[in-house]
Amino acid sequence: LFARECLFFAGATSVEILPPITRPEIAFAGRSNVGKSSLVNAMTGRKTLARVSHTPGRTQQLNFFDLGGHLNIVDMPGYGYAAVSKTKIAEWGVLIESYLRGRTSLQRVYLLVDARHGFKEVDHAQMTAFDRAAASYQVVLTKGDAVKAADRAARVAETEAALAKHPAAYPQVILTSSETGAGIPEMRESVARLLAE
Ligand code: GTP
Ligand code: MG
Repeated sequence: LFARECLFFAGATSVEILPPITRPEIAFAGRSNVGKSSLVNAMTGRKTLARVSHTPGRTQQLNFFDLGGHLNIVDMPGYGYAAVSKTKIAEWGVLIESYLRGRTSLQRVYLLVDARHGFKEVDHAQMTAFDRAAASYQVVLTKGDAVKAADRAARVAETEAALAKHPAAYPQVILTSSETGAGIPEMRESVARLLAE
C-alpha cells in the first residue's frame, strides 16, 4: 500500500470545502509540533510531502493526500499552541469537530503524543471530543528517538494504562520515530489492517 505514490490533493480551511467522500481515510491529530507532518512523510517515504517546521502551528488547514487512489491521509492542524490567535484556534476546533462528525469514510484518527512528555490536558480534551464524535482513534507516541532506549517500553505501558480513562481509544499504543524509522512498519501495518477489515 505505502509503496504507492502519494499526492497532495486538497486543503480545507472550512467544512464547506472538504473534498467529497470517495475513499477510506485516516487522519493525524495532536498538539502543535508533535510530529504529525513528519510522520505522514515517514510513512509515505516522502521527505517533503507534508510541510514540517520547527515553528509550531505550521499546518493551518486539513491537508488531504491521496495514497495511490486507495486511501486518503489527512494531516490536521495541531492544537494547544498559544501563539496562534484565539480566533484561529476556535475556527480549527469547529472545522475538526465538524470534520469528525460528518466523515463516514474516516477509518481511524491517529492521535500523536510526544513520547517525552506524555498526555497533556489538551490531549485528554481532544480524546473526549473523539469519544463524543464516536471517532475511532489510536494513540501514537512520537519522537521515540528522544527517549532513552531503556525507557521506551515503560512509556508505552504508562500511556496504555492512562488510556483506561478513554475506553473508546484503541488499547494498543505504537511508539514511533520519524528520524530513525522506528515504529513506521507497525504504523503501515495498522493502516493496512484497517483497509482489509
Ligand atoms: P504543526 O503542523 O505545527 O502542528 O506540527 P506537526 O505536528 O506537523 O510537527 P512537524 O512534523 O512539523 O515537526 C515538528 C518538529 O519536530 C520538527 O522540528 C521536526 O523535525 C521534529 N520532529 C518530528 N518528528 C520527529 C522525530 O521522530 N524525532 C525527533 N527528534 N524530532 C522530530
Ligand atoms: Mg504539521
